[in-house]
Amino acid sequence: MKQNNFSRREFLGISVAAAGGTLASKSILLTPEHLQATSRPVAPSDTVRFGMIGVGMQGSGLLGASIRLPGVECAGAADLYDGRHVLAREIVRPDLPVTRRYKELLANKDIDCIVAAVPDHWHRQVVIDAVSAGKDIYCEKPMSHTAADGVAMVDAAKKSGRIVQIGSQRVSSLVCAKAKEMIAQGMLGDLMLVEGWLGRNDPTGAWQYPPPFDLSPQNLDWDTWQGDVPKRPFDPIIFARWRCWKEYGTGVAGDLLVHLISGMMFMLGINEPPKQASAVGGIRHWKDGRNMPDVHSTVYYFGDLPVYMRLNLATEMPETYRIQGSKGLLEVTGSSVTFSPQTGKDSYPSYYTGSFPRAMRDEYLKKWHEENDARLASEAMGETSQTFRGPDFDDISPHLLNFFNAVRSRRPVVEDVVFGHNAALACHMANESYFRKTSVHWDETSKSIKS
Ligand SMILES: NC(=O)c1ccc[n+]([C@@H]2O[C@H](COP(=O)([O-])OP(=O)(O)OC[C@H]3O[C@@H](n4cnc5c(N)ncnc54)[C@H](O)[C@@H]3O)[C@@H](O)[C@H]2O)c1
Repeated sequence: MKQNNFSRREFLGISVAAAGGTLASKSILLTPEHLQATSRPVAPSDTVRFGMIGVGMQGSGLLGASIRLPGVECAGAADLYDGRHVLAREIVRPDLPVTRRYKELLANKDIDCIVAAVPDHWHRQVVIDAVSAGKDIYCEKPMSHTAADGVAMVDAAKKSGRIVQIGSQRVSSLVCAKAKEMIAQGMLGDLMLVEGWLGRNDPTGAWQYPPPFDLSPQNLDWDTWQGDVPKRPFDPIIFARWRCWKEYGTGVAGDLLVHLISGMMFMLGINEPPKQASAVGGIRHWKDGRNMPDVHSTVYYFGDLPVYMRLNLATEMPETYRIQGSKGLLEVTGSSVTFSPQTGKDSYPSYYTGSFPRAMRDEYLKKWHEENDARLASEAMGETSQTFRGPDFDDISPHLLNFFNAVRSRRPVVEDVVFGHNAALACHMANESYFRKTSVHWDETSKSIKS
């Protein structure tokens, strides 16, 4: 498109620097307080004993991270696959009590709380059983497999009064906490839009995990593993890659979008489901029999705030948020938060006046420079962007520490059952919109997702 005969800079007659082109930037290191907390000794009487349910990919990481925290001990582990009993003993100690039946851990009076990392279709049952048995529980994200599961879990948790922490670790991250503080101080001005994205481009990133070689109906309780889902013959591929099917998992929404959503809710101080969601996507690359999309893009209204989230399993893009406001842009990545302020004022004369006759244009330019040059010079000398760096927002230790401290102190956790439910609802709405091919909203009266 040809605007006029003047290029913007020719017309403006001002330097790049005066237009804010030299971006002075400052980088500051955030101190991880949880590292100081983890080196503080805990009195033996304050030791928290937990039972681990599900020692798979995430559970093994949670188990190792938990026992490294001071005053935290693992008293037993449950998994339906015996290979994971071996793994739990390798991580904790050779004589760790192990079982296929998680209810044995719930019945054990020496166990104070539970850490659970089972596939999504088991979350409801495990959480309800745990709180009903009087145990506090850390349950992995997404909190629920369906909206109805989430409603039942909130009810059970509230009725029991037990502590429930949902495992979306962004909520305990230093980088997100810094972003939250900056937003709360009003540094962004009026919030305009939040966008976030994550892309991967490799088979493991697309959940094509290799099943354990020895897996068989003899060393795995396949029948129980399937839970309420209509039974299928033993299938090691489903065991390892359950995320690909809606019967067990929640797709990229529950696996990845939930992190973007819970991080955003935490940073912005939101604790409610979105008003509306509209999604597009498809199985565009990984045509391996899955029924969940590998590309999934959702536009939301959270209140009146537009939010746009994009997930893609066939193009690599590091996880990033861009929180956009009238006074600047906040970019949050795995280990940094960068604020780039914007004045919201013209940094050059209006190019519209290229349409003025020369004398009028000259008069406008003279007046404009008289009124604005001093401001532009001072802005150009000032600092324009600020970056804070901290530990990766995927780090699980601070989030676990928050849970175990809450078990000891009975103080609230950072991500309780209501927050976890609301974040999960945003993911279920993304899935429902994709499958129904229409926009959806959350109906609080019927507590269901409506088209
Ligand atoms: N917070 C994160 O960054 C993160 C990362 C990965 C996974 N996750 C979540 O963790 C959960 C587990 O994912 P994963 O990748 O570890 O799965 P996984 O399949 O590797 O491991 C799950 C384990 O749970 C066991 N299991 C299933 N049902 C059980 C039951 N009723 N009783 C006892 N054991 C049972 C399975 O045998 C398996 O060993 C999922 O909800 C997932 O979304 C979270």
